[in-house]
Amino acid sequence: MRTTILDLQKMKQAGRRIAMLTAYDVTSAQIADRAQIPVLLVGDSLGMVVLGHETTLPVTIDDMVRHASAVVRGSQEALIVADLPFLSYANEADAVRAAGRLMQEAGVQAVKLEGAGGNLPVVRRLVELGVPVMGHLGYTPQSTHQIGIRVQAKGAPAARALIDDALALQEAGCFAVVLELVPATLAAAVTERLTIPTIGIGAGVGCDGQVQVWHDVLGLWGEKSPRHAKRFAEVGQVIEAALKAYAAGVSDASFPTDANSSAMPPEALAEALGVAPAARPKEPAA
Ligand code: KIV
Repeated sequence: MRTTILDLQKMKQAGRRIAMLTAYDVTSAQIADRAQIPVLLVGDSLGMVVLGHETTLPVTIDDMVRHASAVVRGSQEALIVADLPFLSYANEADAVRAAGRLMQEAGVQAVKLEGAGGNLPVVRRLVELGVPVMGHLGYTPQSTHQIGIRVQAKGAPAARALIDDALALQEAGCFAVVLELVPATLAAAVTERLTIPTIGIGAGVGCDGQVQVWHDVLGLWGEKSPRHAKRFAEVGQVIEAALKAYAAGVSDASFPTDANSSAMPPEALAEALGVAPAARPKEPAA
């Protein structure tokens, strides 16, 4: 049974922490499901870690639908949330169209959007139409050219504004809020004041859950992960070693072996080549 937004609410109430992880394709979704990760985010971080862009901004709704549907096909258990891409929710009509594609074509169960303020009517409309919405405050990557990649809301006015934004998103109907690159004490204070779960990334242990990027936790991305991430394995090194072994196996002809190959009757090959079959070795006399 898939995790639902009601399950997340119960987890917060019971003090059970929520692990959320990004996924972008069918294989990662299958593995995450086997690891019982309850929430998968098809993040627009796709733009950087999968498509090689510098920011999330070039990611289109078509990109999101394609990758989100692969994740949906790979996962039976997780709640799947997909990011609404940059400028796809600038007004209610656009947001409804984009969320509709993600829910109807890709089959995700919820969408995420960044910021509060002017987006609150969009959140209200989506929720009214039955679309579960996750908010995202603090460092919001779609505004990277305005705010830079840095910890947000360190001063009192910005911290107050962030608390107000989180309360406004909850009031507008969000079922959870991501807090990215926010001081740990502020994130804990927001978490205490909200009845919906907070999911932190670079926001300390006081949130109701954590979200990490697939490539960061697996050590697939760069030599060093950002401070807010932890490399739980060095899968990139494992893959590199495997690929070197594969290339060496090809080069010294130790791969493929008979076990990796198929046989055919020698007569059939001889006939296909138009030559006489090679003489069979004589059977030893009984
Ligand atoms: O796109 C993404 O991966 C995200 C997470 C970092 C929260 O929005």
